[in-house]
Amino acid sequence: MKRYSVLELSENVFLVGVKDWNRKVFDALIPLPQETTYNSYLVIGKEKTALVDTVNPGFEKKLAEKISQVIELKSLDYIVMNHAEPDHAGAIPYLMERNKEALLITTEKGSSMAKTFYKVSEERIKTVKDGDIIELGGKTLKFIEAPWLHWPETMFTYLVENKILFPCDFFGAHTAFGFFDDEVEEILIFAKRYFGEIMMPFRNMGRKALEKLKDIKIEIIAPSHGPIYKNPERILGAYRKWIAGETKEKALVVYISMWNSTEEMIMTMVETLLSEKIEVDLYNISNSDIGDIAKDLVDSSAIVFGVPTVLGGMHPLAITPAYLVKVLRPPLKYGVVLSSYGWGGGAVKQALEILRPTKIELVGALEVKGPPSTDDHEKIVEMGKQLSNKIKGLS
Ligand code: FEO
Repeated sequence: MKRYSVLELSENVFLVGVKDWNRKVFDALIPLPQETTYNSYLVIGKEKTALVDTVNPGFEKKLAEKISQVIELKSLDYIVMNHAEPDHAGAIPYLMERNKEALLITTEKGSSMAKTFYKVSEERIKTVKDGDIIELGGKTLKFIEAPWLHWPETMFTYLVENKILFPCDFFGAHTAFGFFDDEVEEILIFAKRYFGEIMMPFRNMGRKALEKLKDIKIEIIAPSHGPIYKNPERILGAYRKWIAGETKEKALVVYISMWNSTEEMIMTMVETLLSEKIEVDLYNISNSDIGDIAKDLVDSSAIVFGVPTVLGGMHPLAITPAYLVKVLRPPLKYGVVLSSYGWGGGAVKQALEILRPTKIELVGALEVKGPPSTDDHEKIVEMGKQLSNKIKGLS
């Protein structure tokens, strides 16, 4: 058996999860520029032991070997499933096969998912509700229901004596760098990116979860992706702002262009916004990372979408970002769509159809034939000034 370094992050609490240095994409959608981790935590009480969350399929053996460096796998009493998604629950069948006595702890909805996804039998599941506790002997696990963060069954686990919160995906970040928050320089950028990709659609549920955490003394936040926060206020403060939907005087500009006409329109808009002192984050879809766009959706007031017509509709590469603007439910207030076509339009109509169900107020849309004329540029400058005034709350 291999020997691994197993970090004791607090007295009798061990990090036994893994870093996945080879994972480049999550959910077949989100690029992972710094890869990710599947954090799993072993809590040793005087009488009982518990594992909080497991790891992605493919890492079961490594997890079992790490656990075995601290206790015999057969002596593990509980496996806490905060979340049923396979990146945290994928090793449950492997562990429960090798330890026939351990019980799975999860919420009622989690129980149903454990049976469906992992074929765990009813008698091996202990269902917990909000506020329930399990005593391990000098270590008390308290369960906090926190649904929809990120699936309907999710909960947090709080280790009372060590004041550690295990929130699984919530407060997570896809980066394999470092072990603690102060070791990763860009941690809040990665946490914000993760929030935009995963948590932003569930801001209401996040607000309720933060409310539940308000009166709990937390000294360490140990999520299941990315570094552990020894400075919990760092991520708590950021989440308060992101969940509240606090926006900056900032426009997110996302575009694609085939023969530079749409790009020319976009650049006129960008220069106008900058001259009006509006912060701009600019992404050319053909060479952008969708995770960066999600990150900047978290606190932008407005979106400017530039997309040419291809065969009567939007350029296909622009459809995914437009769809994400709709489903990620960012706190955007205003929008503009700019477009050029060769012989027949359609991109603006399709973009507006996608964005119609959102709460974004359309400040303007312009669709031009071929390259924009001087008159078109003037219209864009005017539209940019209107958008700036809206962002600044002047109109
Ligand atoms: Fe990291 Fe929703 O799983």
